[in-house]
Amino acid sequence: MKRTVVTFKTAMPIEATMDFEREYEPELRLDLEEKKALVAAGYAVWMFVDGALAGETYAVSPTAVGDEIDDIDAIHPLMLYCYSTTILGPFRGRGLAKVLVAYSLGQLRQAGYTTIVGHATSPAMVHVRASFGARFGPVHEGWFGTRRVARFYRIDLE
Ligand SMILES: CC(C)(COP(=O)(O)OP(=O)(O)OC[C@H]1O[C@@H](n2cnc3c(N)ncnc32)[C@H](O)[C@@H]1OP(=O)(O)O)[C@@H](O)C(=O)NCCC(=O)NCCS
Repeated sequence: MKRTVVTFKTAMPIEATMDFEREYEPELRLDLEEKKALVAAGYAVWMFVDGALAGETYAVSPTAVGDEIDDIDAIHPLMLYCYSTTILGPFRGRGLAKVLVAYSLGQLRQAGYTTIVGHATSPAMVHVRASFGARFGPVHEGWFGTRRVARFYRIDLE
């Protein structure tokens, strides 16, 4: 059986990551400058499968996305908002989002963060986040004008 090698990076030229934007509806895509600004102020992880770029996730300070936080009263300095988790099309259906989220949560815990919040906007991500202990809150239909249903979640890392 062929062995799959999964590796990670925490820094990348953002120009090389724009394929991930094309996995989203136009309403949700970031342009290069928006993404550079967001990622520069956040914690990102890119995942490679057998050397090919396959996954991306990044988390930012909740204050960077203030209006989107459902539990605004609970914001504290050791909390991050997961802005995006994406697996490129050819790599889907292999459980790789769980691998990426596991690595990323470990990195964030190591960096001292205690709470990760976000919105899971696909059924698969609701399932993945639940498997890491997410508790779910408000639900938003028609997320940013798309047909997505977004579920706010919170994961406590300690
Ligand atoms: C969402 C996404 C990251 C999932 O990536 P993936 O690793 O290929 O996901 P998988 O197909 O392996 O599924 C992950 C888990 O969800 C489950 N799942 C898949 N589709 C599901 C569904 N419709 N309902 C419930 N669970 C589902 C799988 O069974 C699997 O669970 P398991 O590991 O316990 O068996 C990927 O589809 C993607 O990047 N989509 C476009 C961008 C996006 O929507 N990102 C999420 C924004 S919050």
